[in-house]
Amino acid sequence: MHPGTNAGRGGRLFPAPQAGEPYGCTPADRAARIDLDAVPESAAAARRHARDTLARWGMTELAEDAQAVATELVSNAIAAAVKAGAELPVMLTLHDRPPELRIHVWDHSPGEPAHRTARAGEEHGRGLAIVNSLTGRRWGWYPTPASGGKVVWAALAGEGHDRHQ
Ligand SMILES: Nc1ncnc2c1ncn2[C@@H]1O[C@H](COP(=O)(O)OP(=O)(O)OP(=O)(O)O)[C@@H](O)[C@H]1O
Ligand SMILES: [Mg+2]
Repeated sequence: MHPGTNAGRGGRLFPAPQAGEPYGCTPADRAARIDLDAVPESAAAARRHARDTLARWGMTELAEDAQAVATELVSNAIAAAVKAGAELPVMLTLHDRPPELRIHVWDHSPGEPAHRTARAGEEHGRGLAIVNSLTGRRWGWYPTPASGGKVVWAALAGEGHDRHQ
């Protein structure tokens, strides 16, 4: 599939990172993408996608962390998409990029991810702190001007790679 062509629900086209936008991965990377409706149930679908993909790729040592990171990033993307009030799906892509697994989540909203320290007793505000910790601070985001919105990415170290270096 052409990177800029994404069939949405009912065959509709919706914007996604286009060719030429920074994506941090090469076409040679093994990749597994899923497009998810911006509804709360999609967080569980993101988790299953990460689990099933890593089982297929024989990378089960990263499965737990990948599921947690994918769930947090997709939950944030859904919340941002809902807040922005449009119906566009969010897009989760796993990239096998030795020695790393890269997790990319695109959403169309203009808001910016902001990692902060939740106060004791606060119910929310911990998702990106968890991502920060599991990835050894290797996460970030970039805008996707051609399609609107942004990609939030995170990298997990594979076997033999020190994630805290
Ligand atoms: N994809 C995103 N688009 C826009 N804003 C985002 C995105 N991801 C995170 N943010 C912003 O960063 C803040 C911090 O995210 P974080 O995941 O740490 O906490 P939370 O989602 O508010 O709470 P929790 O994850 O604990 O339920 C969010 O409240 C939101 O304002
Ligand atoms: Mg969150």
